[in-house]
Amino acid sequence: MALPFFSKDKNPILNRCRDDYATRMRLKYAPYYRVIDAQQGPCITAGGRDMIMLASNDYLGLSFHPRVIEAGRAAMLKWGASPTGARIANGSRAYHIELEERLAAFLGREACHVHSAGYLSCAAAVAAFARKGDVILADKNIHSSLWDGIRLSHAACERFSHNNLADLRDIAASLAPAVPKMLVVEGVYPMEGHIADLPGIIGAAREHHCFTVLDDAHGFGVLGRQGRGTLDHFGLNDDVDVLCCSLSKSLGSTGGFVAASRDLIEYLRTHSKQTIFSAALSPSQAACALAALDLMQTEPWHRERLWAGTRRYRDMLHGLGLDTWGSETPAIPIVLGSKERVYRFWQALLEKGVFTIMAIAPAVPPGRDLIRTAISAMHTDEHLDRIADAMSYAVKKL
Ligand SMILES: Cc1ncc(COP(=O)(O)O)c(C=O)c1O
Repeated sequence: MALPFFSKDKNPILNRCRDDYATRMRLKYAPYYRVIDAQQGPCITAGGRDMIMLASNDYLGLSFHPRVIEAGRAAMLKWGASPTGARIANGSRAYHIELEERLAAFLGREACHVHSAGYLSCAAAVAAFARKGDVILADKNIHSSLWDGIRLSHAACERFSHNNLADLRDIAASLAPAVPKMLVVEGVYPMEGHIADLPGIIGAAREHHCFTVLDDAHGFGVLGRQGRGTLDHFGLNDDVDVLCCSLSKSLGSTGGFVAASRDLIEYLRTHSKQTIFSAALSPSQAACALAALDLMQTEPWHRERLWAGTRRYRDMLHGLGLDTWGSETPAIPIVLGSKERVYRFWQALLEKGVFTIMAIAPAVPPGRDLIRTAISAMHTDEHLDRIADAMSYAVKKL
């Protein structure tokens, strides 16, 4: 819907919204919120054209797995569409408890709490435990949900350079030893595809007695034994206090969770506004995530296919001379360096039937404007061939 940009009103907030430059540009170039009319796995139909989805986070390709879909359907028949309220008000359902117990057992944690969005889980994982007077040490590139958690906590925040242990050490050493500190990092940074230097970073945090929070939305399902995530990948399962995660990536559902010791999860249930005042995870969300969690453990070939596809795709991009920012995971950026180049590249891919997403400064550092792509286990060799053709075409358009 076109906004009536130039019509003035006496309401200054309304005028500010109507005159917003970023919204005007977004509507003019229309790269985001594109309408997809149909989808089967990574094959989508948009604007009457068949395309390959290369921008979702369905790493294991489980969102279309028949057992996941059947589990969601059965849960709706049994429990209805929605719990229609927060658990503190109208109760936890058996499916919440089952999913929480299964996630906690899988991750070797005592307890877990699920939310209806990963965003809520990640914001809660910070905001519930930090407070005014604390100092939070945060990697500069963490997700918006964690920044919101930091803001809501009212703690002071010190940002360290992305994945930079030396910078973290310098900042931590400059703080008064007695001040309560929290470290907030991710396991895998999805815009860059980087795996965090967790052994170094967590080690430094422990030296300074930091409470540690790790968002593993993009490591869960991808790294570690059976997809237990980045901590498991490094053998650091016992070294982080709170793990937060999304159900909307490898688990092919929507929602999120916080996993920790029992006392910390009970503290979160008492103090976290995101937990207390938001409606609970729906029956189908929970059932789909639970079925996917089973599949992660019983059907290892999804992860094997994911990594085989990732290696092939990354080699192909490097063969074309493209810069993937040193990505080590299935989240693979194509760094093009300016918004004009990104836009041309993105349009060429669209023309060839490949759906990607642009990330331009300030969403990424200046000069690192990029196309964000991610491989799924559902991408077949044929899809990857088509993607390779589209990439060669887009390179020529630069
Ligand atoms: C690193 C990270 N944390 C948290 C989230 C929020 O998860 P959700 O999309 O499930 O709300 C995302 C989603 O993009 C993410 O990338």
